[in-house]
Amino acid sequence: MMNDNLSFNPVTITGIGRYIPETVITNEDIAKLVDTNDEWITSRTGIKQRRVVSGNETATSLAYKAALDALAFADVKPEDVDLIIVATSLPDSLYPSTACEVQAEIGAVNAAAFNLVAACTGLVYGLNVARNFIMTGTYKKVLLLGVDVHSRFLDWEDRSTCILFGDGAGALLLEQSADGQNDVLSVDMHANGKKAGELSIPLNGKNCPLVEPNEAKQQYVNMNGKEIYKFAVSVVPKSIKHALSGAGLSTDNIDYLIPHQANMRIVSSIMERLGLSEEQVIANLDKYGNTSTASICVALVEEIMNGKIKQDSIMAMCGFGAGLTWGTAIVRWRALDKRKK
Ligand SMILES: CC(C)(COP(=O)(O)OP(=O)(O)OC[C@H]1O[C@@H](n2cnc3c(N)ncnc32)[C@H](O)[C@@H]1OP(=O)(O)O)[C@@H](O)C(=O)NCCC(=O)NCCS
Repeated sequence: MMNDNLSFNPVTITGIGRYIPETVITNEDIAKLVDTNDEWITSRTGIKQRRVVSGNETATSLAYKAALDALAFADVKPEDVDLIIVATSLPDSLYPSTACEVQAEIGAVNAAAFNLVAACTGLVYGLNVARNFIMTGTYKKVLLLGVDVHSRFLDWEDRSTCILFGDGAGALLLEQSADGQNDVLSVDMHANGKKAGELSIPLNGKNCPLVEPNEAKQQYVNMNGKEIYKFAVSVVPKSIKHALSGAGLSTDNIDYLIPHQANMRIVSSIMERLGLSEEQVIANLDKYGNTSTASICVALVEEIMNGKIKQDSIMAMCGFGAGLTWGTAIVRWRALDKRKK
């Protein structure tokens, strides 16, 4: 774990954005494709509907809209952004990176850009990478995006996976804090590659035909749901406590828990293990399903816009997913919505 007591530049979040595609797929809709029903999906996951891309929508187009939102919120011009990090596991192409495509579309001509892969922990990993560039003085303004388009990588005949995921994008602009106050208080990150096979989307390329003839295989989500469930409820509470201790805080100091929106039963178990109340837990998976790397950011942004998360609220934002990866960021919300001035 990082030593958070060293003296570095303070970091704050000045911009927030999100974009969710408009096409809604309800549980009843999915029941037309596979043998399932609303009662089963709702009771096992808490999900009622999800949004999916259609037509020309792409991971890049979702991320682009979230990025513009965050820059407008912060009142920052694209050309003033130093670095764009896109946390994604389901980009439109292996290369170029989504980050480079967003850089071009928003006109962030002075920004470096790269993708980061940590599946549903991507936003937490990205926050740590972004804040370190600012803390060390390398960059002043870093645009962090989380986007995933799962709907194009699901087997819509597999009822154990196609019910879970939705598409979406979230954006945070991190800056060197002007008033010296640090708001990204601590980040805790972990990985266990030995369990990689529990949740994966293999990239099945074909060998050179001169070596051996072979068929290309489908590229869909493979998941051991029970193992992922057990993994999440066992490691995430420990990670939250670890991150809190890195910030010199305890569970009593958390105003809101913003967990990765995978499954309401996982969320409730984490809440109970930490002794938090339902009012302290932000959940929107009933509306959006599991939007993977976007989920924490979308939940954060919507509750800031709704006024639930207020100035100086302290949040524990925890992610978990393929890799396996997991982690927690402890963040204070302090930015003012400049559009309201
Ligand atoms: C996927 C998940 C909801 C499945 O719930 P579960 O209680 O573990 O269910 P099981 O896999 O044991 O399946 C129980 C039964 O329901 C059936 N089933 C599975 N999906 C179903 C569906 N969509 N509708 C109806 N029945 C379904 C199974 O076939 C099985 O039937 P059987 O008993 O006749 O064999 C749950 O394991 C889960 O949420 N895991 C975490 C996944 C996750 O969050 N992944 C992303 C992490 S980033």
